[in-house]
Amino acid sequence: MEKKNIDWANLGFGYMKTDYRYVSNYTDGKWDDGAITTDDMITMSECACVLQYAQTIFEGMKAYTTQDGKTVVFRPDLNASRLVDSAKRLEMPPFPEERFLDAIDQLVRANKEWVPPFGSGASLYIRPYMFGINPVIGVKPATDYQFRAFATPVGPYFKGGVKPLTIKISDFDRAAPNGTGHIKAGLNYAMSLHAIVTAHAEGYDENMYLDSATRTKVEETGGANFLFVTKDGKIVTPKSNTILPSITRRSLIQVAKDYLGIEAEEREVYVDELKDMAECGLCGTAAVISPVGKIVDHGKEICLPSGMNAMGPITQKLYDTLTGIQMGRIEAPKGWIRVIE
Ligand code: PLP
Ligand code: COI
Repeated sequence: MEKKNIDWANLGFGYMKTDYRYVSNYTDGKWDDGAITTDDMITMSECACVLQYAQTIFEGMKAYTTQDGKTVVFRPDLNASRLVDSAKRLEMPPFPEERFLDAIDQLVRANKEWVPPFGSGASLYIRPYMFGINPVIGVKPATDYQFRAFATPVGPYFKGGVKPLTIKISDFDRAAPNGTGHIKAGLNYAMSLHAIVTAHAEGYDENMYLDSATRTKVEETGGANFLFVTKDGKIVTPKSNTILPSITRRSLIQVAKDYLGIEAEEREVYVDELKDMAECGLCGTAAVISPVGKIVDHGKEICLPSGMNAMGPITQKLYDTLTGIQMGRIEAPKGWIRVIE
């Protein structure tokens, strides 16, 4: 199989239309069989629930080419179950987890020529999503839904690859107590757009959101969880029920403990503690681990000792081990890698 002729090494994180996508429709209370299609266009009512009331949820995961030439997907079972959690919170019919895995298999198999080659630094980003498609004008859930998944080859999420980022503590809130911060709903991202455009205009790469109840604790960014390394070499990640349970972060905690022998703890992290941290990173499917060099708290600069030139040493070890597992250089824990034949 020939790969597409793409400058893989210089890809950014953008959408590129690939050959195939997967579609399944929910009508009369059941999901149809679903199929691969070449049609990237969606036709729907002007009054579709997704357009009026943002009833949409999504997932993000990646496929890689391993050292020995296999095509693999990293932990898609966790994306399948998180999509079910998101669906329940937005009153949508869950897309069955085994159907989700089958859809991803079919999608990646159909688009194998788009999976970046081993060593290119790129990967195939997979975006499953579902939305309420029938007309709804009173505020209530749709009755008909569409599940889709497409794939697009991507490079690093942040321009400049692994150069440390400068972020600001945002005055905007991302999630309310008892709200939807813990699920992957499109609405969480819609409300973050003004905050990210504002941060970029001020020269920052990203926002650090705080807990909206007390504004004393670190939550996450618009698209990634935080991971900190303390000065005594322990890993700490914020615990909160209003952040997305990142699959990357959960994997990194296990990698730290089981592969690197580093203590890792999930607990509340206070803004006051930031000055005592040695390293900071943003972790997620798109971000992998993107190092943070500086956090600005209303004009006050908190400079991480790891500096602005490179990742801190522990972040680097985590990055190397996780990407080694994903790309088949390091043996994965059981069940982490799904091979697409
Ligand atoms: N937090 C938010 C708000 C996200 O959108 C994402 C991306 O999916 C993450 C964290 C990271 O989650 P994961 O590692 O499962 O991709
Ligand atoms: C991901 O990492 O998969 C995300 O969804 C983050 C961002 C692109 C929204």
